[in-house]
Amino acid sequence: MTPEEFRVAGHALIDWIADYRSGLAVRPVAATVAPGEIRAALPAVPPARPEPFADVLADLERIVVPGVTQTQSPSFFGWFPSNAALASVLGDLASSGLGALGITWASAPALTEVEEVVTEWLRELTGLPPGWRGAIHDTASTACLVALLAARERASGGSLHRGGLQAEERPLTVYASPQAHSSVGKATGLAGFGAANLRQVPVDPVTYQMLPDALAAMMAADVADGRRPAAVVVSIGTTGTTAIDPLARIAPIAAAYGAWVHIDAALAGSALLLPERQGMIDGIEGADSLCWNPHKWLGTVLDCSLLYVRDPGELVSVMSTNPSYLRSSVDGEVTQFKDWGIPLGRRFRALKLWFHLRLDGVDAIRARLRRDLANATWLEEAVAATPGWRVLAPVTLQTVCLRHEPSDMVGPDGEILDGEALDEYTLAWVAAVNGSGHAFVTPSKLDGRWMVRVSLGAEGTEREHVEALWKLLQDQVRDHVGIGE
Ligand SMILES: Cc1ncc(COP(=O)(O)O)c(C=O)c1O
Repeated sequence: MTPEEFRVAGHALIDWIADYRSGLAVRPVAATVAPGEIRAALPAVPPARPEPFADVLADLERIVVPGVTQTQSPSFFGWFPSNAALASVLGDLASSGLGALGITWASAPALTEVEEVVTEWLRELTGLPPGWRGAIHDTASTACLVALLAARERASGGSLHRGGLQAEERPLTVYASPQAHSSVGKATGLAGFGAANLRQVPVDPVTYQMLPDALAAMMAADVADGRRPAAVVVSIGTTGTTAIDPLARIAPIAAAYGAWVHIDAALAGSALLLPERQGMIDGIEGADSLCWNPHKWLGTVLDCSLLYVRDPGELVSVMSTNPSYLRSSVDGEVTQFKDWGIPLGRRFRALKLWFHLRLDGVDAIRARLRRDLANATWLEEAVAATPGWRVLAPVTLQTVCLRHEPSDMVGPDGEILDGEALDEYTLAWVAAVNGSGHAFVTPSKLDGRWMVRVSLGAEGTEREHVEALWKLLQDQVRDHVGIGE
């Protein structure tokens, strides 16, 4: 494709994206295809000769769009807000258009230095301590793995330069709450600690926050048994209920053993842009790393995950490689992000964050986050005030965990009489909500029983959409059990 052909096709594509975004409210929110349907609609072999761009665009509309859950829809309340602000989409396009190769500072100095500037902007905006440094990774899962690798090496005194974990006499242990995201268990396994060395620290039964006293007891017992605590993963905003582990109480316990404290704030990190919400990370001075995803609620298009560390030297000592063809005369003066993580080649992801912050502005982003917090409180109050409905966990941010419990399924003290039947009923009405095409919510298990997470915060979600969702939930429930008006 020549630049002139690109110009024509590109204009058509931008028009298509603008139309798509402005028409989202009338599309079914959930993907409407059966397994294999999209594969079957595509040719088995690629075209030998160029096809017209109009044909590709038509197939995008006809084949691809129905196979995408419309996360940008104002009626999307599933998993977590996965916003893709159009300002950031432009930055992503600019990044692709530049096609910069980020392997060292010298390969694209701007790639490194714009990233240094935007991560510093966001450090300040989110109230992280001065001196902490950030880098952009693809996902929070990768960031957690990077943090745990650094933790492993600190605890083992640099085992990778010797015989690795296989040569260690004392097993290293990692601690997290059972509410921590599945990526924590995955990273623990991938970093070589082994599932048997991941301790699940009990949580408070009402708030779902990690219990610091239980953590202290588990760490002490492990040390007495000849193990070495290497890391504690603190969840600031768990996936299930957005519970906020008490960092200020956990960090000193970890410090007593020299254990690395990694904070997983994948979703909640966006709220740190609000000064009134920065209390969530009280105690941050005692932590070693924090990750959050602008590609969630903040809305910088996937993939954009920030990993901040107190001391980047701890990453460099683990991740640094220095083959001759990557060396330059300025190496001592510049940041080499290749030494702060796993990949060598990096995309110019900072551009999408830079465009997003510049074109939307921090004030408007903050106003949107506050709008979502207020909408969550509105829904929480509406649910709590309606007979038969329960809010199942404290609403700390923008997620409301709820369940409808028909009177014939609960006893006089609210105890569940037949859990299996309640689960079946919950899954049935949620499927009906999602099948309606009018909204999308995610069922999830809490304390072993199905419930519904309403995760607010799509960019276009206004109060009217939340009100429409609440009405839809009540209508579907009514259809399912025929309970009174
Ligand atoms: C608390 C938490 N941590 C980590 C993740 C994983 O995020 P990613 O998809 O960026 O790996 C999620 C995703 O939902 C999450 O909610």
